[in-house]
Amino acid sequence: MTNRLIRPPALIYLPHIESTNDFLSALLAKSEPKPGTAITADFQAAGKGRFGKKWHSEPGMNLLLSVLLTPDFLKAREVFFLNMLLSVTVCEVLQKKLPTHSDRISVKWPNDILVDDKKICGLLIQNGFSGDKIQTSIAGLGLNVNQTQFEHFPGGLQPVSMSILAGKNLETRDLLFEVIQELFQNFEDARENREEFRTRYLSLLHGCHSVLQFQNRTDINFKMLGKVVDIDDSGKALFDDGNFRKWISIDDWKMLVG
Ligand code: BTN
Repeated sequence: MTNRLIRPPALIYLPHIESTNDFLSALLAKSEPKPGTAITADFQAAGKGRFGKKWHSEPGMNLLLSVLLTPDFLKAREVFFLNMLLSVTVCEVLQKKLPTHSDRISVKWPNDILVDDKKICGLLIQNGFSGDKIQTSIAGLGLNVNQTQFEHFPGGLQPVSMSILAGKNLETRDLLFEVIQELFQNFEDARENREEFRTRYLSLLHGCHSVLQFQNRTDINFKMLGKVVDIDDSGKALFDDGNFRKWISIDDWKMLVG
């Protein structure tokens, strides 16, 4: 996107839809929505999580949002930077809205947003590439706002919501505008100073300040203890056990929390 994003050129509200990410993807296939176009819904009949899982969310309770980004300052191999962008955005909004929990908000590599070891938000970013460029990016997020009971929560982490932590319900509409505004501001910040932005992501990263366990995905008995000291733009983590450092991939290693 060459023009500075200030507010969404279009904000489409749908009471009921299969998936906001899929809706935006279909819109892209048949028209030319402007960068920054945002889709939100009260309910998704087929909300999508990562790794082909479903994202369940009770009607009207949570923030379900997909935003179209065209990150012209990133190459295809740097696509993970968008996860950093969205993760920092959600964490910073949460820090403002939940000030008493501020220092317990973190990102679990690669991009689950946690408060104390519980998941409060999931991100699903779907990209369209053209050669070495990222042509379009659908930045989807599901933020648990007012839901208090979770029957189907994917991914093995315990769920939590903002209302559970705040002890009161919050306005999803206010959050919608705050997240979009913060996302656009961060998009510009990241374009101007990527390294400064990476530092912001690292400061929020679980395991950056404390030793954690990592489990090998092919041999689940193979575990290693250490910190993450860096993340590159492709999403690889620089693992440090105090004696040696190596770059590890999310395809091979899982960060254990709790
Ligand atoms: C995950 O943690 O598995 C990612 C969950 C992402 C859910 C959001 S809700 C809005 C957007 N539309 C979808 O279908 N999925 C994402």
